[in-house]
Amino acid sequence: MTRTTPNASGARIVGMGTALPDRILTNDELAKMVDTSDEWITERTGITSRHLGGTTAGLAAEAGAAALEDAGIDPSGIDMLVLATTTPDRAVPATSSTVQEMLGLDCGAMDVNAACSGFVYSLVTGHGFIAMGHERVLVIGAEVLERIIDWTDRSTCILFANGAGAAVIERSEKGTDLLGWHVSSDGAMEEYLYCEHGETIFMAGQKVFKRAVLVMEESARQSMKQANLTADDIDLVVPHQANIRIVETSCKRLGIPFEKTSMVIHRTGNTSSASIPLALDDAVRNGRVKEGDNVLLVGFGAGMTSASAVLRWSGEPGRRG
Ligand code: UT7
Repeated sequence: MTRTTPNASGARIVGMGTALPDRILTNDELAKMVDTSDEWITERTGITSRHLGGTTAGLAAEAGAAALEDAGIDPSGIDMLVLATTTPDRAVPATSSTVQEMLGLDCGAMDVNAACSGFVYSLVTGHGFIAMGHERVLVIGAEVLERIIDWTDRSTCILFANGAGAAVIERSEKGTDLLGWHVSSDGAMEEYLYCEHGETIFMAGQKVFKRAVLVMEESARQSMKQANLTADDIDLVVPHQANIRIVETSCKRLGIPFEKTSMVIHRTGNTSSASIPLALDDAVRNGRVKEGDNVLLVGFGAGMTSASAVLRWSGEPGRRG
């Protein structure tokens, strides 16, 4: 059992940005590569197309630059870079070092690998750096999952894709946007979803599906409890974009209407660490969040990890106006 003290950070999101590579791969194109169909993929996953191409550092830097611009902050204003990824460009150094150089940041940089829960883990870590004295942290989730996909395995190649999403978090005297958070891992289930060095992803799809539904609910409940909120208080859910049916089932179990979710899976596929910031940015840009709203981020992934956070939206992203 972990022990946490909520509301210790005094920070909020002040800018967001995303990046998706140019190449779009449709379900119909995939149906020419493996024994599948647009109908099967759409019905079973909610995905109709996904993006391929790019490098993890390149996509991360593009999303990071967009988040800095959104926040109206110069690279010199960032005190720490936390990059969530399961597909670093190299084993060493951390991809965050490459991104730091590309963005012209003068600060510490580190990678976090918590699989698809990585962005929420990193967001919480970023709030931690601010609680310890930093002013601003750039948090990015970026993936080139294309690299570790077996393009002959129809159970995985239809799901995973590339992308990046970023958020600038800043110390705030007005209090914190992070009302509650929860992270967990159950290493006993690591054989459900893994990738050996130099190989491709293995996934026991149904086992992951069943576990995902349970941990999404459990983690969300922990964060809501810490935030002193109930499911009725949640205005927007930003779930990990793994499978629309996982999200529908989790929402039902939590008692939150599916209409309150932000979904981009139809056009992005599963982008692991990038999926939550891509969906959050989409909601922000489409005016689906207003100041004072309670936003629940919740994800799960290999490990098996899970993570959630309840944010009280400050209305600041982006300060671009
Ligand atoms: O980021 C976290 C990681 N991953 C996930 O969250 C994935 C969780 N799991 C899933 O999303 C689903 O389990 C899948 C999308 C991977 C599979 O969907 P499913 O509804 O669980 O299908 P299934 O594995 O039960 O397979 C049903 C049938 C099988 O055929 P038979 O044995 O019934 O004849 C599969 O061989 O569907 C077949 N199948 C496909 N058919 C057409 C599996 N993949 C495909 C495909 N196209 N792409």
